[in-house]
Order: sequence, then structure tokens, then C-alpha cells
Amino acid sequence: MKFFADTADTADIKELAETGLLDGVTTNPSLIAKSGRDFMEVTKEICGLTGGPVSAEVVALDHETMMKEAEVLRKIADNVCIKVPLTIDGLKTCKALTSEGTMVNVTLCFSANQALLAAKAGATFVSPFVGRHDDNGTDGMDLIRDIRLIYDNYLFDTEILVASVRHATHVLESARIGADVATMPPKVIKALANHVLTDKGIEGFMADWAKTGQTILK
Ligand code: E4P
Repeated sequence: MKFFADTADTADIKELAETGLLDGVTTNPSLIAKSGRDFMEVTKEICGLTGGPVSAEVVALDHETMMKEAEVLRKIADNVCIKVPLTIDGLKTCKALTSEGTMVNVTLCFSANQALLAAKAGATFVSPFVGRHDDNGTDGMDLIRDIRLIYDNYLFDTEILVASVRHATHVLESARIGADVATMPPKVIKALANHVLTDKGIEGFMADWAKTGQTILK
């Protein structure tokens, strides 16, 4: 299972890249706004921090302008993945771009039928938003189960990129279901390492080690 960081904060991305746990990055217009940085400049910097796909989202709503924006974005770096919304124009753009060998992430997916369309349009990734489903009173993980079943039924290559991840249980459930990727805020990735018994165990070992009076490094 691949881990993507869902952020445009380059300090966080750098820190995660150094752990060796980072397989890519996703951004969206809200995350770019939050970074306060120039879109092209920050995207180029992120592309240099990871060898994995970096999703950069188009903001046009019509196919023709999406294609023009994608043309600009894909020149940033070889690992740019064009992010398009799950609309008919977005799917048309997805088909055109993936036919030319450009990676595409179809975002804002909220139903299994939408995910079926993304796969038929040749998407590299589809991004179902689990947290926003939960916020709306429906279980976001049911959507991931349905998409996994459908993609396996037809042997679609499109990778399921679980998005809008809010906590560790979303990650665990995604892994159980067999989702290909989870994109997470950096704090969620780091929190996966936490366990109270790990902390307690370290505390005990350190106390006993101190009693020996030994050092490993001389
Ligand atoms: C995915 O690519 C999106 O950027 C993201 O996961 C949305 O998450 P949110 O619902 O927390 O805004």
C-alpha cells in the first residue's frame, strides 16, 4: 500500500520523504491556498522532493481549458499527475491525457458508479473521499469496498487512492480492503507510528539499561 502526503507544505513533505515512507504527494486548490505559495513554484519544489506522483489539479471546468491547463502543468516535471474533477469534462480530459501517457488522478469521487467511469476513462488513480462521506453521515469505507470489488471484477488497472483520510482507522480499513494508496495529512502518517505500549516499553528498557551502567558507543 502506497502512502501519499496530502499537503502542499514542503517542510512536512521533506521530513516525510526522509523517513522513506513517502510514495507521492497530492495537492488541491485549497491546499495550495493554505500554503500561501505560487502554484507552479511550490509544485515544482514538491516534484523535486519525491520521485513519486505529485497531483496538481486543474481549475477549469470545461474540457478544452482543462487540456490547456494540463499542458502547462505537465511541463513542470515528469512526475506530475494531472488531477481532474469527476465530471464529464474531467473524464474526457482524463481519457485524452492518459492516452498520451500522462498520469491522471480523477478526484472528488463519491460513488462507485463514478469510480467505474474513471476506470473506463483510463484514470491512473481515482480519489474517493472517505472523510467527507463520514461528515455527511454515510460510511466512507463502504465506498472503498464497492470500488475494490468492481475494479477486481473487471481487472481495471486504475489505482484506488483513498482521499479525505482523517484518522488511523481509515488507513487500517483501507489496507484491509486492499486499496492501492492512501493520501493523508502528514500528522495522520506520523500518528500511525504511535502506540502507548511502545512508549511504555521504551521507558522500561531505558530504565533497565541505565541500571547496567553500560554504553554502546564508546
Ligand atoms: C485528495 O486528493 C484531497 O486533496 C483531500 O484528501 C481532501 O481531503 P479533505 O476532505 O480533508 O479536504
